[in-house]
Amino acid sequence: MFETDWQFYRTNHWLVAKNILEIWWSAPHKPMDAIIKNTVAPTMGSRDRRLVKSVVFDTIRHWQVAVDNAETLGIKLSVEWAMANIMAHYTPERHALIINIIPKVDVVPLTISPAGAVNLPPFLYQKYQKKWNDEQIMGLVNAKMGVDVRLNTPKIAEQFCKKFKAENVGGLPSAFRLGGNAPLSHDKWFQLGLFDIQSLASQIAMARVATHVPHHSSILDYCAGAGGKSLCLSQYYKDITLYDKDSKRLENAKLRAKTQGKNFNFQLKEQYDAVLLDAPCSGSGNFHKNPWQIFSITQEKIHQYQEIQWQLLQKSLGFAPKFIIYCTCSLFEEENDIVVQNFMKQNSQYKLIHNELLTPLTHNCDGFYIAILKKF
Ligand SMILES: C[S@@+](CC[C@H](N)C(=O)[O-])C[C@H]1O[C@@H](n2cnc3c(N)ncnc32)[C@H](O)[C@@H]1O
Repeated sequence: MFETDWQFYRTNHWLVAKNILEIWWSAPHKPMDAIIKNTVAPTMGSRDRRLVKSVVFDTIRHWQVAVDNAETLGIKLSVEWAMANIMAHYTPERHALIINIIPKVDVVPLTISPAGAVNLPPFLYQKYQKKWNDEQIMGLVNAKMGVDVRLNTPKIAEQFCKKFKAENVGGLPSAFRLGGNAPLSHDKWFQLGLFDIQSLASQIAMARVATHVPHHSSILDYCAGAGGKSLCLSQYYKDITLYDKDSKRLENAKLRAKTQGKNFNFQLKEQYDAVLLDAPCSGSGNFHKNPWQIFSITQEKIHQYQEIQWQLLQKSLGFAPKFIIYCTCSLFEEENDIVVQNFMKQNSQYKLIHNELLTPLTHNCDGFYIAILKKF
C-alpha cells in the first residue's frame, strides 16, 4: 500500500513532504501537482522529487484518519501528528525512523472510523456504499496498475514489449501496460508519435464506441481537451472534429495530432452523426491515482458538475446527432446513469444501446463510465 521507496528515503524528503502537506491542509482545493512544483526546490533531482511525492501520497492515502483525529490540533501539529501516527499505525519500523526526525511528536492511539478505514470523507463513503462493500471500496481507492499506453502502430508491439517490459492488456491489440513509472515523455519513440500515454479505461470505452457507431460516421468530440479520446478514436474513424471551450487545451491536442500524424478538424460544422461528450466530473474513477482529490471534492462541486453534464447533453442536440456518447471518469451514479436517464426522459427519441461502468475491480483499469444513445 505504501509508495515510498524507503531504501532511498532521506530526512530532507520527509521535511519537504511535511511542508507540502501543511500548505495543502490550508488550501485543500489547490491542485497537489502545483503545490509540489512550487514547494520542491528547483535543485532537487527527479528521483528526489518522486520520493517527496510518494511520502506526500502515502500520508494522503491515510488522511481521513488524520482528519478524524487531528481536527483540534492546528495545522502544523496536525500534519506532523498525522504523518507520525499514520506511519506508526501501519509500520512500527518506519515510525521509529520518523520519530528520530520529529522527536517532539507524541504518538497517541488513533480512533479509526469506518470511513477513515477506507480513507474517505463520510459523504463520499456513503456514495461508495450504495454499490460496494468495504473490501471492494479499498480495492477501488487503493488500486495500483502501472502506466497504460496505446501503440499507434501495433506492428511494433513485440519490440515495444521488449524495450519497456510491457504487457498487452484489455484484449485490445494496441493497449499495453508498463510496470514502472519511468518518464515516458522523454522517450524517442514517444516523441516520434509511435505510442501515446492513454488509460486502458479510455481505450476500452472508445473500442465500445467502435462496436456500436458505424466507422464511416462523422464524430464531434465536444469536450476534446488535449485530444486523448479523439486520438484513440482515430484508430476506427477518419472524420473527427475536436472542440473544447478551453482553447489552450485544444492547442495541446493540435500538437499531439501532428506528432502522431492525425488529420483532425477543428472547425465546427452544423451537423454530426455522433457527438462524444467526455464530460467534466468529480474524477472519482481516478482517486486511486490522485488521492488528494478525495479531499478536494465536495457535494456542492458534484452538483455543479451535474449541471454542466446536463447542459452538455442539451447542447449536443444542436448537432442533430444519430448517436450521443456520454462519458465520465466518475464512479458515481448521480454523474452517470442518473444524468443519462434524466436526459432520456425529456428526449425519448434517444434510447440507450450500451452503458457500462469500468472499474479497477471489473476491468483492471481506471474508473470510467460510458453510455451510448441512439436516435430512433
Ligand atoms: C474530462 S475533460 C476531457 C478530456 C479529453 N476528452 C481527453 O481525452 O483528453 C473535460 C473537458 O471538457 C471541457 N469543457 C467543460 N465545459 C465545457 C463546455 N461547456 N463546452 C465544451 N467543453 C467543455 C473542459 O475544458 C475539459 O477539457
